[in-house]
Amino acid sequence: QQLVVFSETDSTNDQAKKLAEEGAGQGLLVVSDSQTAGKGRRGRSWESRVGEGIFMTLLLKPDIAPGNASMLTLVMALAVRAGIRQVTGIDTQIKWPNDIVCDGKKVCGILTEMSAQIDYINYIVVGVGINVSNEVFPEEVASTATSLYLLTGVTCSRAKLISEIMAQFEIYYAQYLQTQDLSGLMNEYNSHLVNRGRSVRVLNPKREYTGVAQGINQAGELLVQTEDGIMHVSSGEVSVRG
Ligand code: BTN
Repeated sequence: QQLVVFSETDSTNDQAKKLAEEGAGQGLLVVSDSQTAGKGRRGRSWESRVGEGIFMTLLLKPDIAPGNASMLTLVMALAVRAGIRQVTGIDTQIKWPNDIVCDGKKVCGILTEMSAQIDYINYIVVGVGINVSNEVFPEEVASTATSLYLLTGVTCSRAKLISEIMAQFEIYYAQYLQTQDLSGLMNEYNSHLVNRGRSVRVLNPKREYTGVAQGINQAGELLVQTEDGIMHVSSGEVSVRG
């Protein structure tokens, strides 16, 4: 295990990818106090001001099929949830596939990126951004974001939270590797799933539809009950609202 710490960098995901290209091994963790080009999903940016959050990326080199890589994002979501619970006592929920929310507001986002051949993974980077001590948010996200500080009134130790999340990740990851799917973790994931039993709108490039989220299956797909039957929604191709 190796730890690389920056006071400022462009994006911990990009740094982890660069170090992976240079031969860094599985388990490398890149942490930064701030990011100048923090990335969110769907090409959005991630607000990364100094002292306000945890910005970190874990490098993995699992011997699994590339098609199973997106499940690691869900494994990390479980680890972040458990870590936050341990350190702050807050019982957060997971918004499929990988947002951590409390009272419907987002506390953490996860961005997984992969370098792979058709049947072989070179490496995966799992980036985690947690709103720790933010007191205000940019206007665009002000109504949908919150921080651990806003939820508890106290500032938690970032170092403590990072180490607890990593300890939790090791446990969940080992369980994931046993079957290389989420069969051992889906019940726990579903018990924390905020979308469960709720009406969701699935926005997919070809078609848009509404249904009731049932939970994930062992592949990490969200099962959505619609008039036409149960749809299997995979995280790469759609956005789920509601
Ligand atoms: C999301 O859109 O919800 C995902 C946000 C992921 C942000 C984290 S911060 C650390 C890592 N480095 C990045 O550039 N992004 C991720």
